[in-house]
Amino acid sequence: MSARQEAPGRGLRDLLPSTSGFVDIHHHLLPGLDDGPGSWEESLAMARAAAAAGVGLVVATPHVRPGAGDCPERKTVVQRVEELQERLWQAGIPLTVLPGAEVYPVAGLGEWLSSQGTGVPGLGAEGPVPYVLVDLPAGRLPPLFDRLLYEVGLGGFVPVVAHPERNHELAARRERLVALAAQGALFQVTAGSLLGAFGQRARETGWWCIEQGMAAAVATDAHDVRARSPAAMEEAYREVVRVSGERLAQYLFVSAPLAIARGEPLPAAPGTIGIAGRRRSQQSVRRPQAGLARVVLAWLARLAGSAG
Ligand SMILES: [Fe+2]
Repeated sequence: MSARQEAPGRGLRDLLPSTSGFVDIHHHLLPGLDDGPGSWEESLAMARAAAAAGVGLVVATPHVRPGAGDCPERKTVVQRVEELQERLWQAGIPLTVLPGAEVYPVAGLGEWLSSQGTGVPGLGAEGPVPYVLVDLPAGRLPPLFDRLLYEVGLGGFVPVVAHPERNHELAARRERLVALAAQGALFQVTAGSLLGAFGQRARETGWWCIEQGMAAAVATDAHDVRARSPAAMEEAYREVVRVSGERLAQYLFVSAPLAIARGEPLPAAPGTIGIAGRRRSQQSVRRPQAGLARVVLAWLARLAGSAG
């Protein structure tokens, strides 16, 4: 592969430690790209707060709206991450940063992602499994959202739905969450939701996702040092340990998000979950994994097709 064809971010995966404290896969850490920090100083303050809260790895996820003129390209995000990493080293802040994006759920998203080649705004480093963080509004679901995610999967990508517990429609109709998980979508629950920062309904729905084994990661969605603060990670971790046990907390805050950041298959989830610590049924474990397997197979088929 020539340097011109090299995908931005490829090779970063090999630099990652196997464990690095908490892994925050949803964090608006880069300055000047969206409604996150407006300066390098603010960005460094957020990074300092994240490191102090025990976070070792952040995937920087600026908003990306497919088709919009001011939409940051993958190479721009990678360049900004590299500059931030240099500044972190100079400032002595022990934090690793990877490029990512939070992609708006526009109609035709699967087709758009497939057309991006090496510029796909994926989540973390280039790896065998291409995860994409899909944004969700707080109010109504986008039209035909289940079909939109299905088409993302058909394109060979694994959708990670950002903060489903904060969407009013999903919180009111949890059967929709079950259906999305069954078709292979992964859920990222916001740390602040578990602590009540987004209201009682988001809190209950976030904990319900964890109890049902449908959450793949807890992340901050941090925008500055106050709103959705990086520091929420540590407090939420303590709550999950207290309520659901350390094994599940390690899965949601470390091992599963690390696999996503590395572009690798998720590790096996702990079998014991929930407030009562009851054993998860085999059926509830298998359904999301079966969906994921279908997506991975579709992706492998796409690779085989493009090689021919
Ligand atoms: Fe976000």
